[in-house]
Amino acid sequence: MVKLIFHGHACWEVQGATSRILIDPFLTGNPLADVKPADFFDRLDAILISHGHGDHIGDAEEIAKHSGAVLVANHEIATHFKKRGLTTHGLSIGGGHDFPFGRVKLTIAHHGSTGPNGENFGSPAGIILIIDGKRIYHCGDTGIFLDMQLISELNGPFDVCLIPIGDNYTMGIDDAVRACEMIRAKLHVPMHFNTFPVVKVDGNEFVRKVEGKGLKARIVEPGATLDL
Ligand code: NI
Ligand code: MN
Repeated sequence: MVKLIFHGHACWEVQGATSRILIDPFLTGNPLADVKPADFFDRLDAILISHGHGDHIGDAEEIAKHSGAVLVANHEIATHFKKRGLTTHGLSIGGGHDFPFGRVKLTIAHHGSTGPNGENFGSPAGIILIIDGKRIYHCGDTGIFLDMQLISELNGPFDVCLIPIGDNYTMGIDDAVRACEMIRAKLHVPMHFNTFPVVKVDGNEFVRKVEGKGLKARIVEPGATLDL
C-alpha cells in the first residue's frame, strides 16, 4: 500500500512499501505544516521539487543534507544544489527516470520558477510519480492547460491527482474542476489553498463541483493520511 501524508500547501510525503519520499518540502514558514524538517533526517529516499519558488523548495537543502536523500528536480535546480554538495538528479520537462524507489517524470506547468534570490531555476513542472504500482500526478503550481488531457492519456490512469485550487498564483476552483475533467484521476485532492489569506478558498466547493461532474474528490487535511 502507498500512503500519502499531507503536510500543508503543496508538501506531500509518500510512503511506499520500502521507501519514503517528500514532494515540495515547504515546512519552515508553512502555517499548515504538521511536521518539521528534523522529522525526515533519519530516513528519506528522495525529495522531489516542482519549481524554484520558496514555498516549494522550502527546507529541501537542510533535509537532503541530513538525510542523504536524492534531490530530484529540473536540471537548473538540480545543478544548483549539486554545487552545494547535495546528491541530485536533474530531469527536464517530458523526461522521466527509473529510481530504486519508483519512476519520476516531469510535465509542463504554466507558472514561474525564479529562485528566492533571483536564481534562474528553469521551467516550472508538474511531477508524475509511479511507485509500487500507484500513479500520482502532482500538478505543481499551474494554470489550466489543455495538455492535461494528453498527460493523463499517456501516463494515467492516475490513482490520485494533487491539484492546486487556491487561485491568485494557480488555478482557482472553477478552472481546477475543468482540469479534473481532463485529468480524470480516480481521486482528485486539492492543495495550495488556505495556507495564506491570498489563497483562501472553500475546498468543499471544489469537492462538490468535481463530484457534480461524476468524478471523485476529497479534502485531505494537513497531517492526515490518504491510503492508495
Ligand atoms: Ni510557485
Ligand atoms: Mn506555490
